[in-house]
Amino acid sequence: MAVKIWRCIICGDSYVGEDKPSHCPFCGAHAKNMILAKNWTPKEGLDIPIKNLTEKSKKNVEAALQLEISNSAFYFCSAEKCKDVEGKAMFKVLGKVEAEHASMWKKILQLSSINIAKADTCPVEYIDELQESHDRESNAIKHYAQFRDEAVEPRLKQLFQAIVEVETDHLGLSEERGIKK
Ligand SMILES: [Fe+2]
Ligand SMILES: [Fe+2]
Repeated sequence: MAVKIWRCIICGDSYVGEDKPSHCPFCGAHAKNMILAKNWTPKEGLDIPIKNLTEKSKKNVEAALQLEISNSAFYFCSAEKCKDVEGKAMFKVLGKVEAEHASMWKKILQLSSINIAKADTCPVEYIDELQESHDRESNAIKHYAQFRDEAVEPRLKQLFQAIVEVETDHLGLSEERGIKK
């Protein structure tokens, strides 16, 4: 079967594959946000600035950017420290996904660059890394849900909602590995 080009309407990135992936491989958005790239219309993606972004929304996007930079840095540090084989892989990919989220907010704010580094310190024990991941994802979900509800721009509402769903998936990863809800 021939491969197709799929594109994510949340982060704008494309994927080559026979079938629509269950989640965007870059930002983690759910399958409902993946369309065939040939059906892409200019209103999708992050290339077009959101018109008349309110001051409140701008502040919320700036807060989202900081949150993602911090979470990405935490995950990259944890990936390096983690002694569990699967945990190492999980933290690395979560670091990449959160960096992709940071890049989304960067585009919305029309910033030329952002600096995503690896955090200097993070827990050494896997269980503590999982707990911190859980705390960070819970905090992210709480903020994103609030930002979504406060957004008056439909496109921004859609983005915040999509990322709430992604961070909720991440929360499940630590819960499936022994962290209490
Ligand atoms: Fe995406
Ligand atoms: Fe994120």
